Amino acid sequence: MTLAPKPITSLQNESVKAIRALEMRKVRKQTGLFVAEGASILITARDNGFRPETLVYRAGSVTGAAPRGLVDWGLQAGAKVLEVSEAVLGKLASKDNPQSMLAVFRQRWAELPDPKTVGGAEVWVALEEVRDPGNLGTIIRTVDAVGAAGAIVIGAACDPYSRECVRATMGSVFAVPLVKTTREAFLDWAERWTGDVVGTQLEAREDFRKVAYKAPTLLVMGSEGPGLSEALAAACTRTVKIPMAGGLDSLNLAVATALMLYQIRGPHLTL
Ligand SMILES: C[S@@+](CC[C@H](N)C(=O)[O-])C[C@H]1O[C@@H](n2cnc3c(N)ncnc32)[C@H](O)[C@@H]1O
Repeated sequence: MTLAPKPITSLQNESVKAIRALEMRKVRKQTGLFVAEGASILITARDNGFRPETLVYRAGSVTGAAPRGLVDWGLQAGAKVLEVSEAVLGKLASKDNPQSMLAVFRQRWAELPDPKTVGGAEVWVALEEVRDPGNLGTIIRTVDAVGAAGAIVIGAACDPYSRECVRATMGSVFAVPLVKTTREAFLDWAERWTGDVVGTQLEAREDFRKVAYKAPTLLVMGSEGPGLSEALAAACTRTVKIPMAGGLDSLNLAVATALMLYQIRGPHLTL
């Protein structure tokens, strides 16, 4: 294993500046890159066939087999492998729960699948203008947990490749196909869906636990603020509600999505 000769100590280093710039959404969009932090998330990236463009570790932290394996993976992938001082890593890593290793990857975006080729047991989740990266990350993680096929972000949504969202996915961002689309393109595509298109709405009359969902299922969730738009609700073959007993208006979006996914995917899940 060949490591970088001297730790980088300057925040003016070009590679360090380029990684810091990825905190800005516009830079992630321009470059198509994003940052993921922490050895276990990087192992998930490796397991899912991602290759780092740059891999950074804190000087003195590569001691065990797992971090050494990650550095070797970076070198074999032809990545820039940078040893940095604690101070520099402190500026690159997140402030809460900072990690000693992070890497830069190329984003992957999938296309909307051809409805004719979608498998019978597949469940896709579509999210209208999801705004909270913590919610989006939690949903991507849940999509992974239940073995759903992928997540579709519609319209003016937050960025799945933001630091906060990537962290909330706990690595599932590397495993779950992600599609980004406009509302118009989604509506055209959803017309050709062969199973149920299930919208979730507070005004719906059907209890989500009492429905036989026709597979393949496309689950459509509304935005945190306004909920499901009329246009998307009209595209659904049915709308359902998750009953509540307390005085609140609604559930958190990620919680509602998890309840729906466990209901729809339940028969496929075993201990
Ligand atoms: C925080 S809620 C939005 C609440 C919004 N004020 C509304 O009127 O729909 C975000 C999304 O989670 C889902 N959701 C939350 N609670 C729900 C419930 N009890 N039944 C069905 N869907 C729910 C819906 O998709 C909703 O659009």
